[in-house]
Amino acid sequence: MAKFIIKGGKPLKGEISVSGAKNAALPIIAATLLTNEECTITNVPEIGDVEVMLKIMKKLGAQIDFSNHTLKICNKNVKSWKPDVSLVGQMRASVVLIGALLARFGKAEVHYPGGCLIGARPIDIHIEALANLGAKIKTKGKNYSISLKPPRNKEIILKGVSVTATENLILACSKSPYTNEIRLAAVEPEVEDLISFLQKIGVRIKGRGTHNLLIKGKQKLGRASHKIIPDRIEAATLMILAAVTKSRLKIKNINPEHLDVFIAKIQEAGVSLKQGDDYFIIGPPHKLKAINIKTDAYPGFATDFQAPMAVLLTQAEGISTIFETIFENRLGYIKELTKMGAQAKLKDLHRVEIIGPTKLVGTQINSLDLRAGATVIIAALCAEGISEISNVETVDRGYEEFDKRLIALGADIKRINNSQGKGE
Ligand code: EPZ
Repeated sequence: MAKFIIKGGKPLKGEISVSGAKNAALPIIAATLLTNEECTITNVPEIGDVEVMLKIMKKLGAQIDFSNHTLKICNKNVKSWKPDVSLVGQMRASVVLIGALLARFGKAEVHYPGGCLIGARPIDIHIEALANLGAKIKTKGKNYSISLKPPRNKEIILKGVSVTATENLILACSKSPYTNEIRLAAVEPEVEDLISFLQKIGVRIKGRGTHNLLIKGKQKLGRASHKIIPDRIEAATLMILAAVTKSRLKIKNINPEHLDVFIAKIQEAGVSLKQGDDYFIIGPPHKLKAINIKTDAYPGFATDFQAPMAVLLTQAEGISTIFETIFENRLGYIKELTKMGAQAKLKDLHRVEIIGPTKLVGTQINSLDLRAGATVIIAALCAEGISEISNVETVDRGYEEFDKRLIALGADIKRINNSQGKGE
């Protein structure tokens, strides 16, 4: 288990580029299974989850060349529809392999996906929609054996708005020569990015960015070069970091349109910012005031923003509230923030009240999952004194060299790999 030793309480300075979006890169890597032609994907983040996905693809038979954020991948030798059980169990996004394998082989044998412990995270919406598409599904314990003939003129209404279920359905329809319709599709920018990639390899998809998608695929799909969209979650996390450390930071490689509601909320809280075409400059002074947050599907306030936002609210004058509506176990980080001096009252599993401003002080804290991990790092950089954050591998899963990039802005962070007993 690795940990970070962080000395907080000092402003940061400089420029930082946001990485490509994890949640767009992972389904797009899976989507390359739909073609035997080589695809070039750029702006791919070099993070733990991408590493796991590429290991899965390699074991299936993919030829992979990944360096400098550019992935060249060719799947012409992929002959297996059974992704490695232990690797799939490490990551939620592996669930989208189901749709891609069904499109390619008409069958898929997959294990229940892993991922952050932020709620029950069932896959019933995926399974029910695939069944409505005509899939035959057998389950044995946590293993699914699924077969699907090319769906023919189906109209599928998803029973709930789900990002990866929408992606699975799109993928499952993308080699069928018939037109299939998906209703109540998720509209997150990462879903749109997957659609853009599929359009480039030859799938005809109408309704991108809406809840109604019409998909007409074909058996032989082509090659594509595609640049992954910027990671809006990392962008938001860095903006909050700037605000709570009273820093002036230029945050680059952003798509501001993907952050509309987030920007409106941090401005309401008093964060001062300047927007460029693809960057934001966040700069003091910020006189922060309490606000209310309610998470929602896109374009609402993303569930992935709410944990870092809580750190900002500890520094805001008054009583703020967060209402997490998407997942039922995503306020676990509050306990860690209270260890640092935050005043927060959990009302129930979904709602917390944060009373500010409070001075945070460094202590021993745990990184519970990917977003909660980034949250405690921000809190430690805002806090007076030294914090020791354990389990930081959770952060490596989704943020590329987070420690090194923050050190470049002047942060005092030391990484300790326990097995070696020394920093790196
Ligand atoms: C995606 O997860 C993201 N992951 C999550 O990011 C993100 O928080 C989430 O969407 C919401 O935006 C990836 O894209 C890989 P959902 P996903 O299905 O698709 C319920 C991160 O930190 N549901 O849209 O798994 C579910 O429990 C991660 O990067 C069912 O009930 O989320 C939740 O309450 C964390 N049955 C809601 O729907 C299902 O079959 C929305 O989840 C599927 C979902």
